[in-house]
Amino acid sequence: MVATAPAGLEASSLVKRFGGTAAVDGIDVSVRPGEFFTVLGPSGCGKTTFLRLVAGILTPDSGRIAIGGADVSQAPIWARRIGLVFQNYALFPHMTVAQNVAFGLAMRRVPRAERGPRVERALATVRLEGYGRRKPSELSGGQQQRVALARAIVVEPDLLLLDEPLSNLDARLREDMRSELADLQHRLGITTVLVTHDIHEAFSLSDRVAVMRAGRVEQVGAPTEIYDRPANRFVAGFLGPVNEWTGQVQRVQGGVAEIMLDGLRTCRVAALPGSAAGDAATVVLRPERLALAPALATPAPTMSAAGALAGRIDQVAHLGNLVNYRIALDGRMLLAQALPERSGALAVGTPVRLSWDDADLAAVAP
Ligand SMILES: Nc1ncnc2c1ncn2[C@@H]1O[C@H](COP(=O)(O)OP(=O)(O)OP(=O)(O)O)[C@@H](O)[C@H]1O
Ligand SMILES: [Mg+2]
Repeated sequence: MVATAPAGLEASSLVKRFGGTAAVDGIDVSVRPGEFFTVLGPSGCGKTTFLRLVAGILTPDSGRIAIGGADVSQAPIWARRIGLVFQNYALFPHMTVAQNVAFGLAMRRVPRAERGPRVERALATVRLEGYGRRKPSELSGGQQQRVALARAIVVEPDLLLLDEPLSNLDARLREDMRSELADLQHRLGITTVLVTHDIHEAFSLSDRVAVMRAGRVEQVGAPTEIYDRPANRFVAGFLGPVNEWTGQVQRVQGGVAEIMLDGLRTCRVAALPGSAAGDAATVVLRPERLALAPALATPAPTMSAAGALAGRIDQVAHLGNLVNYRIALDGRMLLAQALPERSGALAVGTPVRLSWDDADLAAVAP
């Protein structure tokens, strides 16, 4: 349905204040043509405000927005060739599905004769052929969601903006719609910016993700990149639980930092930019990268010769396909996630040996 080549989006030094507080506090984002780009962050961090600035519903206090290379910072919403799906998808209840979808075409003064066929095509794209005469109230939540998508893509936008489009759906439907959305974006090849606070949604759909906090972008990268190499403690913790150690940088050479972990041993990790010997350091490890094995003997909880740590299972939570363990070690708790043993999960009180590969550690900024 998209006739033109996909357009990129450039936002630079974007600022939007409400009263004294900056909802968007200097955002620089560059979305490549055809990319599925997600802005991920906690509630109130400025995601919707950012999307509204891009759409032209809000005017920035300062900064610049370019779509397909053209500066649209001052352009009104209808001049921006944007398809928008709102956080609550906002269908007009008194209009039929077809009228809802045709709305954007009428606004853009598309000739009446063209509207019908385009509405039909858009409904077919979201697998809702034959639903045109129904009212939104006669549709399921997932179907209403697809109408909102059809309404956004029927105008053949340069840019598709989605504000938490799946948040009103139940868990099962959300999964289905997630993969439909991925298929649709792939088929249309349309540059898409999604905002969400749902990590799984962001990771399963996106080429790249920008993690936002308090009006600012903390890190941009491919899902695995930001998950495995979070830039700072906030990003690390927002993307999932981590075990965290403090320590001190011993030396830095060839991009690798040797860090003495407090009370443990030295490890070798990718150095943070600008880090130097003597710096305080924070190192994180995801629970699924902490290996645990039942220990036969029960030595004092310190390090064994092989570098493994001795701890004791303190809490067990079964997730079905995985087991979460909390492990007591030297007066602190560590988290491990593992496949269940065939003989069942390890019991509370079981002595275990803990180990990891330094390659799975990441040094993070405070
Ligand atoms: N029209 C407005 N007037 C005043 N303050 C606003 C307005 N819109 C948003 N804000 C404030 O700006 C901040 C960012 O709001 P925004 O809606 O962009 O957050 P969000 O990341 O989309 O949150 P959520 O995940 O809950 O949708 C919040 O503190 C909010 O209260
Ligand atoms: Mg929002």
